[in-house]
Amino acid sequence: MNMATTQSILVTGGAGFIGSNFILDLLASEKTRVINLDKLTYAGNPANLATLENDPRYAFVRGDICDLPLVRKVFATHRPWAVVHLAAESHVDRSIQGADDFIRTNIQGTFYLLQAAREFWQDLAGAEKENFRFLHVSTDEVYGSLGSTDPAFTENSRYAPNSPYSASKAASDHLVRAFHQTYGLPVLTTNCSNNYGPYQFPEKLVPLMIHNAIGGKPLPVYGDGLYVRDWLYVSDHCEALRRLLHRGTVGQTYNIGGGSGKSNIEVVREICGLLQELRPGPKYETLISYVQDRPGHDRRYAIDSSKIRTEIGWVPQHSFSSGLRKTVQWYLHNQEWISSVTTGAYRKWVELQYHTV
Ligand code: NAD
Ligand code: DAU
Repeated sequence: MNMATTQSILVTGGAGFIGSNFILDLLASEKTRVINLDKLTYAGNPANLATLENDPRYAFVRGDICDLPLVRKVFATHRPWAVVHLAAESHVDRSIQGADDFIRTNIQGTFYLLQAAREFWQDLAGAEKENFRFLHVSTDEVYGSLGSTDPAFTENSRYAPNSPYSASKAASDHLVRAFHQTYGLPVLTTNCSNNYGPYQFPEKLVPLMIHNAIGGKPLPVYGDGLYVRDWLYVSDHCEALRRLLHRGTVGQTYNIGGGSGKSNIEVVREICGLLQELRPGPKYETLISYVQDRPGHDRRYAIDSSKIRTEIGWVPQHSFSSGLRKTVQWYLHNQEWISSVTTGAYRKWVELQYHTV
């Protein structure tokens, strides 16, 4: 099928956690074509999208967003009406171990993608030019850390990133803003809270705890375990992105969050409780082990998502407990997925981070 159509959406990082969920949701609910541009780092897994292998609406391009000639070619060949930019280095702990890839992909890569998008968009005319969108997917971590009684982050909260990861995402947000202010590129930026759900790489809190508990391994809780995150089930995030693509106001930023503030130890205990029910066996909570804290660890995130709720009518469909139950069930039913991603490279990371295998 000829993919050169204005009905195509270019997704970067579509083989990662949110990207896979986004593409699967998008193709299940909209008449569109999708081009997935992904470098396939350790976090990218094309098997997540295996069900689309023979779907003529889906095209995969293995490539790096820092490769400007390639990115230009993707625009010229597929002529997308929208870009949903998810490609990034996304793990805070990895950014603390070494930030080079974060600076390269998150800042330089976003810059090249913006540059190619701008060149392509500038040559469009009429409705095609009018309707073009560049949706940049960012994080609530750009706003820094909240105290226990501080009000939740709004779109007007001051940027105060504390980790190399969040600093690189903040820089990318500024570049996106600048391309709108300076060149008029029709951008939207989202700042979302912690996602969880199927296909999340088991380096992040929720899948790591499920994976370790099933394997009878320690559940490493950083510091006192009282750090708070605002959890959002991934399909609710995907739904918000889809709605914003069609109805968001150009040049605006939107905070997205589940309104489910939980401390890490609460999350880990809830996972243990679900496993106790769904996979009775050892007393999972006895595996909880308090370990050395993350340097520069943000104490609390909370998102005020009233703007997207009011303007777009988006509300999350999952509570934390309904989303977590689905997630634990998914990991229990997809043990082979976990085995396939926990390769030698993964084990090397675990050794480096936790000094154990
Ligand atoms: P992920 O790490 O699971 O996936 C990232 C994907 O990007 C992978 O498929 C990887 O191969 C690809 N990629 C990395 N570098 C690339 C490059 N140079 N060129 C092309 N592809 C590249 O990440 P995720 O958790 O799915 O997050 C996706 C986006 O959403 C990121 O921008 C992240 O900052 C943002 N975000 C994530 C969360 C969360 O809780 N996971 C919350 C808010 C925002
Ligand atoms: O807030 C949005 C962000 O959420 C995204 O931008 C990031 O891409 C995503 O990785 C996530 O960042 P966090 O650092 O909040 O997620 P992580 O799963 O790494 O950690 C969640 C909390 O759990 C955090 O307070 C650290 C803690 N933690 C994490 C791990 C991996 C532990 O206590 N033990 C662990 O082993």
